[in-house]
Amino acid sequence: MDDLRAKYLGLIADAADEAALEDVRLAAIGKKGEVSLAMRQLGRMTPEERQQAGPRLNAMRDEIASALTARKAALSDAALEARLRDEWLDVTLPGRQRPRGTVHPVSQVWEEMTAIFADMGFSVAEGPQIESDWYNFDALNIPDHHPARGEMDTFYMARDAGDNRPPHVLRTHTSPVQIRSMREHGAPLRIICPGRVYRADYDQTHTPMFHQVEGLAVDRDISMANLKWVLEEFFTAFFGREVKTRFRASHFPFTEPSAEVDIQCAWTDGQVRVGEGDDWLEVLGSGMVHPKVLEAGGIDPTQWQGFAFGMGIDRLAMLKYGIPDLRAFFDADLRWLRHYGFAALDVPAVHVG
Ligand code: DAH
Repeated sequence: MDDLRAKYLGLIADAADEAALEDVRLAAIGKKGEVSLAMRQLGRMTPEERQQAGPRLNAMRDEIASALTARKAALSDAALEARLRDEWLDVTLPGRQRPRGTVHPVSQVWEEMTAIFADMGFSVAEGPQIESDWYNFDALNIPDHHPARGEMDTFYMARDAGDNRPPHVLRTHTSPVQIRSMREHGAPLRIICPGRVYRADYDQTHTPMFHQVEGLAVDRDISMANLKWVLEEFFTAFFGREVKTRFRASHFPFTEPSAEVDIQCAWTDGQVRVGEGDDWLEVLGSGMVHPKVLEAGGIDPTQWQGFAFGMGIDRLAMLKYGIPDLRAFFDADLRWLRHYGFAALDVPAVHVG
């Protein structure tokens, strides 16, 4: 019995981990363990022998059991110590820098414009970028062979030989969305349509794809005065300061009368500053919607009238944020994007008084 005791206490002390210790437990006091088997011998002993051996076996069994428990606790403490040592973490180290994207100036200005016009009760409308020539031209009172078609450097979609459907174009302006919105919603109507437009043109201030925002308000007694107020309100909110505007009589096929709008600016060292000085910069076209355009939109021009305007989003982004070259907008140059981009949560600093 002393041998048995010494053997198992030794094995317990030597067990290197909890799995080894479990093997020792099974070998000693498991169902078929050596100590258990020895206890089973008790049945075959004489009562005298049993009185001697019983308590000693029980005591040995208890001693082995508590040695197992103690060793198990020691092993798991050691394991925890080791983990704490290995998984040690220096919380004072600087954090890992993750590359973070920026909001493109066009997206930023798009959001800013939308917020300002939303404050004035305009909702956002959209239309397709591939447009039929009817929506892009005819419905806007630009009939076939009208010079405006040639001036717009239109991209025409290729047609298979023998396909004689009227042509589709990449829309040259956002004005066709006026027609789509009128046909869909009727009057009264107050919408802006920001979106991509396309023209075959490329230099410092022109790219083949650029962005415009169209405005349209139709009601029973909308006037040029409403147009002027809305635009002045818009520019003041957008540039965050009083900006003088100048309306110049002009001509667009889809408006009558038509006006081009200039904003006040100053040129210093080749840099333009809006809202200062006494130079003027043309920023948009506008006017009272032509009766033929209302008709094409399914609206009765004897009952309703409206104003419309269209301006370049990229152009306004360049002016507001001092970005010199339009072409860089679409080069996807990361250094440019980091320099001119905005943080995701930059709230547009705009407010309509
Ligand atoms: N569609 C014109 C362009 O792209 C801009 C424009 C001028 C839009 C006058 C209008 C408007 O709605 O009334 O050059």
